[in-house]
Amino acid sequence: MLKLGWNNLHVNDKTTLDRVRQRINPHSSTPYLDALVLLSHILERSRSWILAHPNPFLSSSQQEKIRMALQKLEHGVPLPYILGTWEFYQLSFKVTPDVLIPRPETELLVDYAREWLGSHPSRRSCADIGTGSGCIPISIAHHIPDSHFTAGDLSRESLKIAQINAAKHKVGENLSFYQGHLMQALGGTFDLITANLPYIPRSKLVSLDVYGREPTQALDGGREGLKYISSLLHSAPRKLKKGGLILIEIDGSQGKEAYGLGKKCFPQAKVSVSQDLSGKDRLLIIQTREP
Ligand SMILES: C[S@@+](CC[C@H](N)C(=O)[O-])C[C@H]1O[C@@H](n2cnc3c(N)ncnc32)[C@H](O)[C@@H]1O
Repeated sequence: MLKLGWNNLHVNDKTTLDRVRQRINPHSSTPYLDALVLLSHILERSRSWILAHPNPFLSSSQQEKIRMALQKLEHGVPLPYILGTWEFYQLSFKVTPDVLIPRPETELLVDYAREWLGSHPSRRSCADIGTGSGCIPISIAHHIPDSHFTAGDLSRESLKIAQINAAKHKVGENLSFYQGHLMQALGGTFDLITANLPYIPRSKLVSLDVYGREPTQALDGGREGLKYISSLLHSAPRKLKKGGLILIEIDGSQGKEAYGLGKKCFPQAKVSVSQDLSGKDRLLIIQTREP
């Protein structure tokens, strides 16, 4: 392991930022960004400040924190769990190993939900199923302050984190929480149902880096990956108001099947699949007919 004093300004002509990035490199697909985020977190400075000062003076406690964080990374702990926070939709969310780390792809769902709620001002009752850290309903409620979400999850621990995040972003009044399987025990009907449920096929999951690092319950989508999405869609016609919208995140390989499921469960609705920034199928959209 590297045991350099971090304040030696020109060790191998590399800055602290370079050296941290180098250490992170084998453990991340975004080592430069992660190095920036790590230094910015420990120094309590913005990322742009770190970019402008790639060789900052570090106190011994800061040096120790960097060493500890890099050690954990080398042992396979994801950076967001080390920092205890992660950014989603430009908001900072508390994350622990009990919740999935919010992903940038999921921001597409939030964009759609915001746009739809913005153009349907009388539709404000929403449900988010498999809420995890609460990143989806909290980001939406942050922008649509009169929206109300019922946020559900099977995991009690994740609901505790979602509650903390809702309070942190001052949308506690907009959210109520329930623990249970999908929408099974959930009363009432909703204008908008959002969900990012586990969708990785079980056989594929074990070969992925995330396996064992993030909660399996948040990733394992059953044999074909569509177990929970299919189950939610089959129960959704009883839970969605006429004219309501469903937004479900899917894996890039599931577009065709998810579309078929959407059409099967909502034959009269306008069903479509939208792509993320990398061109992969990412979002199933079901717009039902107005009454
Ligand atoms: C892929 S994670 C998504 C978390 C969060 N929505 C996000 O986008 O970061 C899926 C979530 O669904 C929850 N979950 C898994 N099975 C469930 C079930 N049968 N009913 C409700 N929630 C479930 C998991 O605990 C996890 O929090």
